[in-house]
Amino acid sequence: MAERKPEVIHDPKELQSRLAELRKQGKKIGLVPTMGALHYGHLSLAIAAKEENDISVVSIFVNPKQFAPNEDFDKYPRILEKDLDLLEQIGVDFAFVPSSSDMYPVGFDANVHVGGVSEILEGSFRPTHFDGVATVVLKLFLITGADTAYFGQKDFQQVAVVRKMVRDLNVPIDIVSCPIIREKDGLALSSRNRYLSEEERKSALILYEALGQAEFMIHSGTRNAAAVKAELRRMIEAVPDAEIDYIEIADPASLIEMENIAGNVVVLLAVRIGKTRLIDNMIVQPK
Ligand code: PAF
Repeated sequence: MAERKPEVIHDPKELQSRLAELRKQGKKIGLVPTMGALHYGHLSLAIAAKEENDISVVSIFVNPKQFAPNEDFDKYPRILEKDLDLLEQIGVDFAFVPSSSDMYPVGFDANVHVGGVSEILEGSFRPTHFDGVATVVLKLFLITGADTAYFGQKDFQQVAVVRKMVRDLNVPIDIVSCPIIREKDGLALSSRNRYLSEEERKSALILYEALGQAEFMIHSGTRNAAAVKAELRRMIEAVPDAEIDYIEIADPASLIEMENIAGNVVVLLAVRIGKTRLIDNMIVQPK
């Protein structure tokens, strides 16, 4: 694998003009938006961005606008040097590491609200979250002028919100969703897994087990979504430290709840394990 330090750029205007110059030379730009604390899930996106473009950019910015006051903004892991070492191993070209005041200077007053898909599921539990995500992601798209942006399927609803924003606002960018990367035992990689104690880490496996059960039931012919959800609820409620925020079976494109499982569905879970809130999902195709 190539080993080259990414060029670290803090100033949005500088990145914007550097990438505009490269675009003029006909270079294709791939962007991976992240909040740092990188794990292999992020790196798989960076690898795709590198393979499919001339220039790869990874942004690292813990975006205050997507955290509610009671959430983990202050304790969110910030390990920039380690992140840069990982990006060097992949040979990413640019790391964009703006400060909060670079992204939101005094007087900043814009807000991107994507109606519909951002208001259900995560949106009902975290009502300001997707406005914060859409606002920062649109800024990143405009700063980089990227041709393609890469997101992880683990944040399934986030990808749906970003796709809808791009469609509604005619943003000239392709959105690629890359598969969830899991530990050997099935736990989906997440920067928040590091908050889990050893015991909680064991309890957290229930998310993947529940998704596996949903897949099994659907493949075995269950078409009643309520029956699948009730079984998942029973399984998760039996686990110590686990508290369900939601279990949903939805249409993968619109995220609208499905009562009857007729075609592909996405099974979505948000579960609190102790103080750590985890999300996971699986697309299931009835046989
Ligand atoms: O998925 C994330 O890490 C964040 O929501 C994103 C897309 C980088 C926006 O801050």
